[in-house]
Amino acid sequence: MPPRKILITSALPYANGPIHLGHLLEYIQTDIWSRFQKARGHECYYVCADDAHGTPIMLKAQQQGMDPEQMIAETKIEHEADFAGFAIGFDNYYSTHSEENREFASLIYQRLDQAGYIKRKVISQLYDPQKNMFLPDRFVKGDCPKCGAVDQNGDSCDVCGATYSPTDVKNPRSVVSGATPVLKDSEHYFFDLPAFSQMLQDWTRSGALQEEMANKLQEWFNDGLQMWDISRDAPYFGFEIPGAPGKFFYVWLDAPIGYLASFKHYCNQHNIDFDSFWRPDSSAEVYHFIGKDIIYFHSLFWPAMLEGAGFRKPNAVYAHGFVTVNGAKMSKSRGTFIKARTYLDNLNPEYLRYYFASKLTSGITDLDLNLDDFTQKVNADLVGKVVNIASRCAGFISKRFDGKLAATVAEPALLNGFVAAGDSIADSFEKREFARAIRDIMALADKANQYIDHKAPWVLVKDEARQQEAHAVCSMGINLFRVLMHYLKPVLPVMAGEVELFLNSELSWNTYQSPLVDHAINPFQALMQRVDPLKVAAMVAASTENLQATPQAPTTMVNSNTVTSREREPISDTVSIDDFAKIDLRVARIVAASAVEGADKLVQLQLDIGNGETRQVFAGIKAAYVPEDLVGRSTVMVANLAPRKMRFGLSEGMVLAAGPGGSELFILSPDDGATAGMRVK
Ligand code: MSP
Ligand code: ZN
Repeated sequence: MPPRKILITSALPYANGPIHLGHLLEYIQTDIWSRFQKARGHECYYVCADDAHGTPIMLKAQQQGMDPEQMIAETKIEHEADFAGFAIGFDNYYSTHSEENREFASLIYQRLDQAGYIKRKVISQLYDPQKNMFLPDRFVKGDCPKCGAVDQNGDSCDVCGATYSPTDVKNPRSVVSGATPVLKDSEHYFFDLPAFSQMLQDWTRSGALQEEMANKLQEWFNDGLQMWDISRDAPYFGFEIPGAPGKFFYVWLDAPIGYLASFKHYCNQHNIDFDSFWRPDSSAEVYHFIGKDIIYFHSLFWPAMLEGAGFRKPNAVYAHGFVTVNGAKMSKSRGTFIKARTYLDNLNPEYLRYYFASKLTSGITDLDLNLDDFTQKVNADLVGKVVNIASRCAGFISKRFDGKLAATVAEPALLNGFVAAGDSIADSFEKREFARAIRDIMALADKANQYIDHKAPWVLVKDEARQQEAHAVCSMGINLFRVLMHYLKPVLPVMAGEVELFLNSELSWNTYQSPLVDHAINPFQALMQRVDPLKVAAMVAASTENLQATPQAPTTMVNSNTVTSREREPISDTVSIDDFAKIDLRVARIVAASAVEGADKLVQLQLDIGNGETRQVFAGIKAAYVPEDLVGRSTVMVANLAPRKMRFGLSEGMVLAAGPGGSELFILSPDDGATAGMRVK
């Protein structure tokens, strides 16, 4: 097969926050795939960048009293250091706030405009009269227009799950200044996405998308595609639209164009023909790895923009699911919102690369990082199986056999079996079925260990007459180990590098077929330490934010680092014991839990409250829990709350939870021994 030309990207992380373990799933997945393609001898480039534009970045810089340019420059340095720490081997890491990106964004916009795909329309939006800026949905708060709950987001209600337009919110206020927003007109620029409907439907079915994604897109096609608002008014941190002073490209317009810009920057420096990758008839391959939350942008807007502007479309967009930690959304108060840096301060990055690889498939299901399982699996597989093969054989080679491997292969059939597995392992990597590749590799590692157990070289070496046999067995073990390290190299590049030094031999996809015979190796050094559970605990402790101790933020700006006043609610006025007695609290067992179609925040619970009675409750806890993980747990519910009809069905009570809300919510559990239906008093 002739070498392929391949360009690979990961989504561009926002430049206003640190890289965390959720992000890393994507960069590790992409990096493994990219390293695999490179090892196979293909001409392959992996590029990425910081996504540096938009309102949240502008406001965060203001809040910190910095120019946005300065803030994004500092963030980029941190991001790059984090990625390097995890051995993410980008060929280029750039920024969307770059000249190349300005040029491509302008070019694409102008081509789309000339072809008639840009429409202009005056729209009315909430405006902060104090800050003199239009307010994106998430910068408006107020009372829910459906149920009246106070202090809800501008686009949805945590309490009843309703979604609405920020102009419908009651008592709205600007999150930026606290002022009451007013409605104001402005001309906006729209990209005519519906014009690409047919092309997108064809492309969707061309194999460019995973099946689950193609199905999701079909729903959007059925609902009809909408015009896409690509302009924002000043003040905005981004690129001004050519010929439209005071109007800026919406961050999501120039973000994917950042893929082109980063690659262009690299091509210029390395004398690579950019156009040969991006002209419409290019035979090069282009792949985007993304999280499932940004499918809409990558499989509708992006291919349509490319097509409309005369560029080729990607061969495929590969989405992955979300990382949960210990079965729940990552949470600052549980210590499971773990930053890349905090991890690196405590643990070996290749543990995580291995763990993610061992669980990654080509699908979009979420991936749970269970920290106990992580510890156990890394120790059992990498230390207990893989490294163990080498450590049981290498010492004897150094001490007894002059550091040299035997001149012949003791068990050619066994070795051939290891080599023969290479094609199907490669096929698993190619198809992004990393979990399957790892399973197959570990099955081989088991075989190698069985071989060594069976031959017991530590017994053989004690017998003067059996030295040659001992040499053959240890050399065989080293050769089996070597084949496995070839397969693991895309996953464990750092350890593989150390193994290359140890074996005096390069590991690439065309070297594992021939064994090392009569070959000098170096003294063995421990390749990987066991995961220390104390270090895992230290990492969680270092990630745990004590919400009570966090000082009130000096501004009304709400972001994920800021604690809102809801967390320290004052104790309410007293009630009489009779009032309290009116509330019928019961222990309830969660027998079923599922997400609610059309409600981002709700989980539908079926609760067993004893005596064969069940209750259905809609609880706003989706941001804090993976629904399936709740099944089987006991909690406490208000059993005599008047039932309430919601858009999704009847809610017959309420479960008790503590915390400020969003992902920081903790359902209450009774002690062991309490059973469903018991009255709580
Ligand atoms: N800036 C946009 C992407 C623009 S691409 C032209 C963005 N940035 S992000 O920082 O929010 O996310 C970057 C990538 O990390 C996305 O693909 C996102 O899906 C992924 N993840 C962020 N949190 C994640 C988890 N908890 N789990 C898995 N992936 C996650 O979106
Ligand atoms: Zn509501």
